[in-house]
Amino acid sequence: MDNAEVKKELIQIKETLKAWAHEYYVLDQPTASDYDYDKLYRQLEELEGQHPELITPDSPTQRVGGKILTGFEKVTHNVPMMSLSDVFSRSELEAFDARVKKALGVETVAYCCELKIDGLAITLKYQDGLFVQGATRGDGVVGENITENLRTVQAIPMRLAQAINLEVRGECYMPKKSFLALNERREQEGQDVFANPRNAAAGSLRQLDTRVTAQRNLSTFLYTVADFGPLKAMSQSAALAELSTVGFRVNPEYRLCHSVAEIWQYIEEYHAKRTSLPYEIDGIVIKVDDFAQQNQLGFTVKAPRFATAYKFPPEEVETVIEEIEWTIGRTGVLTPTAVMTPVRVAGSTVSRASLHNGDFIAEKDLRIGDHVLIYKAGDIIPEVAKVLLAKRPAGSVPFVLPTHCPVCHSELVHLEEEVALRCINPMCEAQLLEGLNHFVSRNAMNIDGLGPKIMQQLFAKGLVKDVAELYRLQEADFLQLDKVKEKSAENFYRAIQASKSNSAERLLFGLGIRHVGAKAAKILMSHFGTIAALAQATKEDIVAIDSMGEIIADSVTTYFKNQEVHQLLAELQAAAVNLNYLGAPAVSPTESTSEFNGKTVVLTGKLVHYTRDELKARLESLGANVTGSVSKKTDIVIAGTDAGSKLIKAQSLNIPVMDEEQLQSKLMEEQ
Ligand code: IVH
Repeated sequence: MDNAEVKKELIQIKETLKAWAHEYYVLDQPTASDYDYDKLYRQLEELEGQHPELITPDSPTQRVGGKILTGFEKVTHNVPMMSLSDVFSRSELEAFDARVKKALGVETVAYCCELKIDGLAITLKYQDGLFVQGATRGDGVVGENITENLRTVQAIPMRLAQAINLEVRGECYMPKKSFLALNERREQEGQDVFANPRNAAAGSLRQLDTRVTAQRNLSTFLYTVADFGPLKAMSQSAALAELSTVGFRVNPEYRLCHSVAEIWQYIEEYHAKRTSLPYEIDGIVIKVDDFAQQNQLGFTVKAPRFATAYKFPPEEVETVIEEIEWTIGRTGVLTPTAVMTPVRVAGSTVSRASLHNGDFIAEKDLRIGDHVLIYKAGDIIPEVAKVLLAKRPAGSVPFVLPTHCPVCHSELVHLEEEVALRCINPMCEAQLLEGLNHFVSRNAMNIDGLGPKIMQQLFAKGLVKDVAELYRLQEADFLQLDKVKEKSAENFYRAIQASKSNSAERLLFGLGIRHVGAKAAKILMSHFGTIAALAQATKEDIVAIDSMGEIIADSVTTYFKNQEVHQLLAELQAAAVNLNYLGAPAVSPTESTSEFNGKTVVLTGKLVHYTRDELKARLESLGANVTGSVSKKTDIVIAGTDAGSKLIKAQSLNIPVMDEEQLQSKLMEEQ
């Protein structure tokens, strides 16, 4: 074969493979068998192997990944990627419909209703019909270039039938089946599992090794274009049909509705079908169908006025309460946990849910053997929603709250105005152990390796009863523990020694004084400088500090009145544990001129240049309030690599996101 013949042959094979792949991945209607596809694919590989100069970027062989990226470049979206306003009820939907009709001055409006796919928004650019760039939504204005990762997604055409310039937008997601298989594999390999398909999709798209993305079986549904210029459609429903003709995968479940009643029927229908769909949806998107009317309605700063999203209430699943367990916390509070028959809820298997306190059990009259509905609050935390009384087994008896501590057997009490049951025996072993676990934890003394299992053994063997005794441990002591070899014994010992030089706010937090969290500990220590000075402080001294109130002041002064505490501090001092504050004096928010001053900041993902604690300290010194979860009150999210649900939440709330580099340059400016 001469070169021209090879070229012709290659084109023919590629066209056939592409047609088959389109039928399989885009239309969900395969005509060729896997066997035939694989055979022809191998032929293509061979031919390309002999003529590597003839490999084109749109060849099916180029989808397997292989490029190792060093990072993701920023992409500024020509047309911003907005988010949608939300409605949560029929009456809110009616209000949306009324606003639309009023603004348009019409009696009826046609709406295009679509499934709200629970994945990641993406935008795909085509030049002369060729796929040239794919990006994430990012903060809506600037996203990340994930072109190479998206090349591996079979449902995304690498070349369109027509040589047009087009930017299409939609959702990239992981089908439920692929998600379950992926998690099963990860579990077998001892890796962390993904919480839900959306996180799995996000993690897969941000892989630097694109071969990993290729193996993750992602798919897409496209639903709009950045600029309608190249399309003929004059309405959303026509645009969906046209996108499908052009070669994109379009979700077929969309429907034109002409009233709230029809929309509501659509919503209810798909709410019921939700669990049987092969992909996850988290609501329904309702869009004014006619483009002229869409234009007339326009946009607010954040979202189009012509569309809204109805969010489904959290998914409820039935299971049975098999047992109620009680655990004792560091402060003696008993928390009940329902142990249930394992069930899948919102993407993961659940078998335990906190029942919070005795009142919660009593209010719901929750009993062992009861059938209950459970859901995931915020799609994450399992909660019992209600008891299915009709299914209550005959002979069931009300649950009796414990009267005695399950560990030390002393009588439990209800402190004034508290719903919690408490064990008030200060020598209760469960509490002592929890106190030790708290002392070594990351935000306290940060003693690496001394996890709950090790601590439990140290405690059970009588090697450690209080925190001062930790500092008397020798390497040999650890060798008495199960499965602990010399190397780990040495590491444990070293970690304990290293913790002696921590700045004292860690110690203060680690002591577990009621109401003194990590942040309050930091403020107190930066103010008083030494534990000894704090121990001398009066209530008035503490209340005088900005952001410290009566409750903390009371708790701190009461704590230091206890003689045993002074004994403990003396022992810590004798063991050479640092009792002084070593950080820079905290800047009070009003003194800071930083752009972070007074801002609520959330850190997520892996950071390269800072540890989390360092960055937190730095931001706090500039007057920022660093919190753990993203909410409407968050001002800035700082996202390292592999950021997951917090980043997605930030994006959905339109909260500005900064990556580590942007942050670094900002922090340089602050110096
Ligand atoms: S239309 C102006 N249609 O939901 C924004 N969005 O909260 C146009 N989504 O960021 C979005 N399915 O990631 C639209 N059928 C659908 C959707 C959909 C999922 C996501 C999308 C967007 C978010 C809006």
